[in-house]
Amino acid sequence: MKGVILAGGLGTRLYPLTKITNKHLLPVFDKPMIYYPLTTLMDAGIKDVLIVTGGNHAGEFLRLLGNGKELNLKEIHYTYQTGEKGIADALRLAEDFADGERIVVILGDNLFGESIKPYTEKFAKQREGAKILIKKVRNPQRFGVVDFKDGKVISIEEKPKSPKSSYAVAGLYMYDSKVFDFIRKLKVSRRGEYEITDINNMYIKEGILTYDILKGYWTDCGTCESLLRANIIVAKKQGINLKNL
Ligand code: DAU
Repeated sequence: MKGVILAGGLGTRLYPLTKITNKHLLPVFDKPMIYYPLTTLMDAGIKDVLIVTGGNHAGEFLRLLGNGKELNLKEIHYTYQTGEKGIADALRLAEDFADGERIVVILGDNLFGESIKPYTEKFAKQREGAKILIKKVRNPQRFGVVDFKDGKVISIEEKPKSPKSSYAVAGLYMYDSKVFDFIRKLKVSRRGEYEITDINNMYIKEGILTYDILKGYWTDCGTCESLLRANIIVAKKQGINLKNL
């Protein structure tokens, strides 16, 4: 399976931090943010990775990651998204890279506290379709939120005012090659983006979306609060006693 890291967008919720660099290059404790999704993919044995970036500071990724050899990657590819037209729009740029293979897509601002290998292995055995990972959260309004019936996900709603459950969809998606046909059918949402949630709903309609519940921690870094939380989680994991600071 190949890996795709989506690291485009303007990160406006983090202004002015993201005026002078790309969100995914900001520090999360002792490493630039992009290292975390990259490590998550590598831990699952994925060595062929595409980074989709955008904005004004895209060249910095090359300076940081080069051709990926230093990180033990087989190959690292880059592409550039113009504008901030949404996660599914950024994924559209991965079609040639995927070349008909299954892909694991991770958002560049998502941190996972466990190996995703058991999930990708399950997906590899799945006949077709997609797999998402979900996690119970305190503030589902900020995320894509699943609605269940008889233990099955029957729909996902993006940033609902009245969430139908407390389970958010994490920023890691496993797709077969159909994903690019679905992207071609997408319409822009009310908030002017091509939504990954609409893609997942298309898989649900075809009855070929599965899910797993994450056991470890999971956070994004899209807001000042969540970026701070990510820093604290990683620092604690590395044995820093915050009370001694
Ligand atoms: O973190 C998980 C959540 O991520 C999901 O629960 C939501 O369903 C999903 O829509 C997404 O919501 P966010 O509002 O947090 O997404 P955000 O706009 O912050 O984008 C997340 C990452 O996706 C960002 O770090 C880079 C990439 N992205 C985003 C946009 C809008 C792109 O590559 N291009 C884009 O145009």
